[in-house]
Amino acid sequence: MIPRIYIPGDSGALALGAEKVAKAVRAELAERGIEAKIVRNGSRGAYFLEPMVEVATANGRIAYGPVKPSDVKSLFDCGFLTGGHHKRWLGAPDKIPFLARQTRLTFARCGVTDPLSLDHYKAHGGLNGLQNAVAMTPADIVKQVTESGLRGRGGAGFPTGIKWKTVLDTSADRKYIVCNADEGDSGTFADRMIMEGDPFALIEGMAIAGIATGATKGFIYIRSEYPHAVAVMQKAVEIARKAGVLGVNVLGSANSFDMEVRVGAGAYVCGEETALLDSLEGKRGQVRAKPPLPAHKGLFGKPTVINNVISLASVPVIMDKGAAFYKDFGTGRSRGTIPIQIAGNVKYPGLYEAAFGMTLGEIVDDIGGGTATGRPVKAVQVGGPLGAYFPRALFDTPFDYEAFAAKDGLIGHAGIVVFDDSADMLKQARFAMEFCAIESCGKCTPCRIGSTRGVEVLDRLAQNIEPEKQIALVTDLCNTMKFGSLCALGGFTPYPVMSALNHFPDDFRPTPVAEAAE
Ligand SMILES: Cc1cc2nc3c(=O)[nH]c(=O)nc-3n(C[C@H](O)[C@H](O)[C@H](O)COP(=O)(O)O)c2cc1C
Ligand code: SF4
Repeated sequence: MIPRIYIPGDSGALALGAEKVAKAVRAELAERGIEAKIVRNGSRGAYFLEPMVEVATANGRIAYGPVKPSDVKSLFDCGFLTGGHHKRWLGAPDKIPFLARQTRLTFARCGVTDPLSLDHYKAHGGLNGLQNAVAMTPADIVKQVTESGLRGRGGAGFPTGIKWKTVLDTSADRKYIVCNADEGDSGTFADRMIMEGDPFALIEGMAIAGIATGATKGFIYIRSEYPHAVAVMQKAVEIARKAGVLGVNVLGSANSFDMEVRVGAGAYVCGEETALLDSLEGKRGQVRAKPPLPAHKGLFGKPTVINNVISLASVPVIMDKGAAFYKDFGTGRSRGTIPIQIAGNVKYPGLYEAAFGMTLGEIVDDIGGGTATGRPVKAVQVGGPLGAYFPRALFDTPFDYEAFAAKDGLIGHAGIVVFDDSADMLKQARFAMEFCAIESCGKCTPCRIGSTRGVEVLDRLAQNIEPEKQIALVTDLCNTMKFGSLCALGGFTPYPVMSALNHFPDDFRPTPVAEAAE
């Protein structure tokens, strides 16, 4: 059998030099006259080990990483094609602690299989869920998803089954499934990883959603900053169509479902579901007032399921293994697993899928290994640019929607960004207001005007101009934005601002000029 070498084609790995490594491996194979198959797999998500090259040996896969192009010659000299020892030797990938401790349900195949091989997908449990779904009634599929406890992974945590039931129960001549792959939150990359590393999982999840609700057409709205994900998804859709996974007779059944990939134009607000629908319709992405809900009147005025990539990609495993299996993981009303994306100033950045319920401290200190700079952790922003900053004092908070809400925070898309003690939280608060001002769609006053006023107030505070007055003003402004904004961009910007102010008050009281001069 010819050797198989796995070199990730995932854009995270590419950014760390995977393409140069692949080139060096190809050159070395040619020079040594060795025939081998190079598979461009996705990433397993341990980015501190990327580019992580694996070889399939008689004793299973052996990983090496992080591999530099200059390592390639010596890897061959050490017999890496049969798992030989080398300074980059990591052993079996699933024994690497960062990977071994995870519970991989949604990401089970990511980094393992060839992303564009449908045979590989099927050999690893792919299409079992869809096969089950085509034999069920739509109502039973919806029941299964509802009973699994799956909640939207895009940010709001809304129960997926209830959303699907609303669309199922709304009659119309045409219905749509829209996948939200705008992934604009800072520190998040789970959607991208799945689309590049296991695209059929998303296609399967969308096809199941279509059959469950009576929708025959799907759109995947991918942010323009993800050209690799766009390319992989487009190829995967074509392959799925040719194989009869998509089309007029899904897996030979009487159900029809097809989909297209659409590319966004680079606005954070187009991740908000109604702005996304406007953008898909070819308009400027602006938030729509609700009601009507997209489930009643969505894309082109038709009932529409709009779900995040991870929500949809989690459905196949639910339909394969059953609602009870999935629901068994997690805590409280947060059921199943969540792919936590650990980023920022952290020693071990990457994607860590685990059942809900780990504490924030475990995630940051144990899994993430603390800061990359080695300095103490000062704050962790959870849930993207609209998420709250958590101080160490709140590290006992379990990763669970309700537990985070109880501490005035949110899980959002489960991205966490770590900051060390050199972070200036007043600057971070100003950044949140500035971000909101830049990204505001302009439809409502609290967000459009409030965010700009917020930047001005925080600038005055930084200059120590009547600080108590500015603090009172920004608190009042945040209250207005929180309760008066039409969507969560203006409505949640107060979370990072107020959490920074409440948990790190010293940063909001700059040293008096006289003292600083001493
Ligand atoms: C400003 C803003 C940006 C958002 N960006 C995204 C995004 O990039 N991806 C996403 O899935 N949801 C995003 N959301 C949430 C969506 O509006 C919506 O809740 C989600 O797509 C529903 O899917 P889910 O139920 O599967 O989470 C955003 C919301 C707001 C207010
Ligand atoms: S809160 Fe901001 S982004 Fe949302 S509708 Fe209002 S102006 Fe637009």
